[in-house]
Amino acid sequence: FKRVELEPLPHMTLDFVKLLNDVCEQCYCDFAPDDVEVNVREHILQDFENFLRCQVPGAKLVLFGSSKNGFGFKQSDLDICMTLEGQDTAEGLDSMAVIESLTKALRKHHALRNILPITSAKVPIVKFYHTKTGLEGDISLYNTLALHNTELLASYAAIDIRVKILCYVMKVFAKVCDIGDASRGSLSSYAYTLMVLYFLQQRSPPVIPVLQEMYVGEEKPVVLVDGWDVHFFKDLKNLHKYWPEYKKNKESVGQLWFGLLQFYTEIFDFKETVICIRRKEPLTTFKKQWTSKHLAIEDPFDLSHNLGAGLSRRMASFILKAFINARSVFGTPVRGFPPEYSNKMEYF
Ligand code: GTP
Ligand code: MG
Repeated sequence: FKRVELEPLPHMTLDFVKLLNDVCEQCYCDFAPDDVEVNVREHILQDFENFLRCQVPGAKLVLFGSSKNGFGFKQSDLDICMTLEGQDTAEGLDSMAVIESLTKALRKHHALRNILPITSAKVPIVKFYHTKTGLEGDISLYNTLALHNTELLASYAAIDIRVKILCYVMKVFAKVCDIGDASRGSLSSYAYTLMVLYFLQQRSPPVIPVLQEMYVGEEKPVVLVDGWDVHFFKDLKNLHKYWPEYKKNKESVGQLWFGLLQFYTEIFDFKETVICIRRKEPLTTFKKQWTSKHLAIEDPFDLSHNLGAGLSRRMASFILKAFINARSVFGTPVRGFPPEYSNKMEYF
């Protein structure tokens, strides 16, 4: 990301910050699933598990990703992780054979279409399309770290409603600008969520703590999964006792959204710094040896995983331009929206 000349912005007005805030809150209301939709997902999972158990003995399914992390959309895909009873890790497992029998079994399910096994990925998956709901999804095997990062994201979402709203706004922004699809060379929504969380940790005063650095007692516990430390502070009811900055930040979501756009266009140095939510102290691309990448986003648990590694120079610059544009659009006060847009956020 090269530093580019930024357009000077006019003075921000209170009225416009209020309008920005309304837009952000509306975005959350329009896109967050309701209880019925959440329950439908649990039902599908239960139905799959009952069905699979007859064909793949001991199959256990769990939902993860945005169905569970607090940042799900009505149409978000179903991310499902499969494990086998009595087998704690994937070690010694013939993944290809399991994927094969899983594929065969899913092809017999009346409500599923387009069953497609993908075995070339780091975690093998079987993709599917659920005809009754129109939802797409995939079942992965022993995607254990993803279950932990889902829980970590869910914890951040539970700390403050502004976290949730901002992550929705960011995901909508990425979709609208067509910069939120890792399979087409941009970044995954998971990566954008990490960008929001990092900004909220670095804000002064911070909106959220660094849960992975917090612990009770003398020494930070280490909990290893697949060789990575997955410890984080989970006692959220008592967060106020252990985090001195609890509720110190009083900014509105509108202020924070504009703050985020300013942060990633005016302040954050993509060349020097890694977006890293597991520690407060800045982490350099030099230290990670990620200097050749255009954008570095470290996975909170799998520290060898840079979510920005797949970006081409062109795509990185396209993404930065979307942020620069958004800074101008959301940073230039106008008096309300044109009437045709004022009812609902249909333009999304
Ligand atoms: P949606 O766009 O609403 O589906 O968001 P999502 O968070 O469910 O994203 P996605 O379906 O792409 O990924 C599912 C989950 O996989 C994420 O929430 C993470 O828990 C986990 N995950 C871990 N590493 C990666 C990664 O490198 N890329 C992606 N996409 N997901 C990862
Ligand atoms: Mg998903």
